[in-house]
Amino acid sequence: MEFIHGGDIYTEGVLKGRELIDFSSNINPLGVPKSFKDNIEEALANVTRYPDVKYRELIGQLKEYIASVPLSDENLILGNGAAEVIDLAISSFKNILIAVPSFAEYEEDAVKWNSNIMYSYLSEDMEYDYEDIYSKLNEVDALVIANPNNPSGNVIDKKSFEKIINFCEENNKTIIIDEAFIEFTGRKVQSFIDEVHSYKCLFIIRALTKFFALPGIRFGFGVCRNTELINKLKKRQNPWNINCFAETAAKYVLKDKEYIEKSMKWIEEEKKYLPEMLKTIPFIHKVYNTNSNYVLCKLKGITGEDLYHKCMEQGVVIRRAGNFRGLDDSFVRFAIKDRALNLTLLDALNKIS
Ligand SMILES: Cc1ncc(COP(=O)(O)O)c(C=O)c1O
Repeated sequence: MEFIHGGDIYTEGVLKGRELIDFSSNINPLGVPKSFKDNIEEALANVTRYPDVKYRELIGQLKEYIASVPLSDENLILGNGAAEVIDLAISSFKNILIAVPSFAEYEEDAVKWNSNIMYSYLSEDMEYDYEDIYSKLNEVDALVIANPNNPSGNVIDKKSFEKIINFCEENNKTIIIDEAFIEFTGRKVQSFIDEVHSYKCLFIIRALTKFFALPGIRFGFGVCRNTELINKLKKRQNPWNINCFAETAAKYVLKDKEYIEKSMKWIEEEKKYLPEMLKTIPFIHKVYNTNSNYVLCKLKGITGEDLYHKCMEQGVVIRRAGNFRGLDDSFVRFAIKDRALNLTLLDALNKIS
């Protein structure tokens, strides 16, 4: 299987003029926030001039949104999606420990930058193995870990992680925490963003992509108190890497209380509903606990590949998870969408049963 990400609605859909329902990529089903649509003219008006190369207003808006503790502009780095920031962060470390299975880009980036890679595998019930991570820290310069993790939906247990953070802080190691999906946990305290104030070793990565349903806008950012590291990474960036549509989107959506509240209500309900219903499908052997807007499942009596094709016949795209390091073709991941779409997925699965 060569396609490594979800969201390939092009091969069997767009390019063949076929409408598909995409359960393979994990985007807020509430769609583009109205607050952005209502102000799109403002972005258009800015198209004819270069953005502020220092993005001062944008950084000010981000600081307001993310942290209850004060941050300086020098603690932030902006990227063309979280992916750019992940790539940059990984580029500066020779020896990297990646908690897997996880987003494939961590490993792709590390390979691209010739880093030596070590892995810490999740436990059988898809939780982080904190002892294993701790035991490997001496051999690496940086740990890459997601909160919540993709594809498993598990989060970092703060208490169990304490020893790891303290060790990294004392031994000059960096912890890159990918929080691209953090809003879906519904708990502000789950994020490590406020801990940035106390720990220089933390490098938190966020994006507008998932929660604000803006993957086409390509906007992400990193937060870290190690200004030396941030400045080094900034020097590797092209100027004006954020376009005026992303600037306008951030300006309005981060303050869009109505969208945020509606999204929180939706995810709270559907995060319970869909996993419970998936447990009733005969060929789903295990539904893993999720803190995000997707669910990882282990199949029995059918492969992920077969299920993918059977769903595709019904116009539903699911994510085969066999190409995540540590998983095999008995795993699939489903996005959590709104109730009507979740019922469509369940209906498609029930027809296969
Ligand atoms: C865990 C994780 N982090 C980051 C990204 C990339 O985010 P962006 O589209 O903002 O680059 C993804 C995309 O699927 C992801 O799953």
